[in-house]
Amino acid sequence: MVGMAGFDMTALLRPGLADGEAEWAGDPPFNFVGGHNDPASVPFGGFAEAAATALARHGPALAKYNLGGSPQGHLPLREFVSEALARRAHMSTDASEVLVTSGSLQALDLVNAGLLAPGDPVIVEKATYAGTLSRLAALRADVHGVELDSDGMRIDHLNDVLESLRRQGRRPKFIYTIPTVQNPTGTVMPVARRIELLETARRHDVAIFEDDCYADLVFNGQRPPTIRALDSGGGQVVYCGSFSKTLAPALRLGYIVADWPVISRLLALKTDAGSGALEQITVAEYAAAHFDDHVDALTAVLSKKCDAICGALRESFGELARFEEPRGGIFVWVALPDGTDTDRLVAPAAARGVEFNPGSAWCTDPDYGASRMRLCFGHLPPGDIAAGIAALADVVRASLS
Ligand SMILES: Cc1ncc(COP(=O)(O)O)c(C=O)c1O
Repeated sequence: MVGMAGFDMTALLRPGLADGEAEWAGDPPFNFVGGHNDPASVPFGGFAEAAATALARHGPALAKYNLGGSPQGHLPLREFVSEALARRAHMSTDASEVLVTSGSLQALDLVNAGLLAPGDPVIVEKATYAGTLSRLAALRADVHGVELDSDGMRIDHLNDVLESLRRQGRRPKFIYTIPTVQNPTGTVMPVARRIELLETARRHDVAIFEDDCYADLVFNGQRPPTIRALDSGGGQVVYCGSFSKTLAPALRLGYIVADWPVISRLLALKTDAGSGALEQITVAEYAAAHFDDHVDALTAVLSKKCDAICGALRESFGELARFEEPRGGIFVWVALPDGTDTDRLVAPAAARGVEFNPGSAWCTDPDYGASRMRLCFGHLPPGDIAAGIAALADVVRASLS
């Protein structure tokens, strides 16, 4: 609402502040943006039961910050995280090495805040999560992209980048990777390459930041061991995960796993008086009984939606769209003919009711990303996926003619 004439607060905003957000204009009919999930798969009935049980047990503790417990987060939730990581990702972790965060975005913020100073070199996959790239840019990190193939980050190129930095006397703070269901490319790094990545990082004495928020959503059910699990020496990998993609993004629950000397320092940076307790107690209660069954069912739904979008892309785009079938998750990464500028397609696509993520924000080299786009297939029902992709194909064809 616009205030009455009088004091102009906006005149006081500090120089260099980011531009204001546009007012939310509602959900478009064909929403392929962001990391939205399948609405019908959200286990809200299970959440309701779990919340009732959890509140009966922990209700009075809501009177205290952190439920009167550790600021690292609700212990049963941290115990679930460590038990699930051991069972599902071969990673043995103690609950004392888990820090619950408000989404894994807060995990990124804490790890970055703990490790990065302006100008520090950081290595990332050439196409990677835009939320990571924008954070690294805001922190004025010196970001270096590594080439990708169908198995994720290419180790030969990683080695070249590390050697070149070493010749300049520069040691990167960390290698940030999304090894399991990479965002945006949807690849899964095989175990052998994970070991090579660790060996390479070790040779160069560089840490790894492993972001694993899609790892439970591998379509063939074969989640590889985490890189942190393979780090037998321990301590070289800081790991983060999330309940956003497996349960619901609106929960805002994620976690960091690292050795205590690191966790203790990141905890000192987490000055928010604790992540939401209602989410924590509900998810701890729900997940202990239902997580595996829920994730199996969700993955089957997402796999069908993935088939739907890949089929629609082939049908509507034909030769115009090149992509690899994602191995899991909720995104497909599509390359359009060279010279296409997907940023310029946003407005005409919106006019047809379609929203997608243009590739430039997802790449260390915006020119490489310009002809690419990321499409989230998690949210829409298959029929709408097909209609939305057909509309998007019309927009792309019109731009080329
Ligand atoms: C790779 C990656 N990391 C972190 C996040 C942040 O997710 P959240 O804060 O919802 O856990 C996302 C969200 O899409 C992501 O794709």
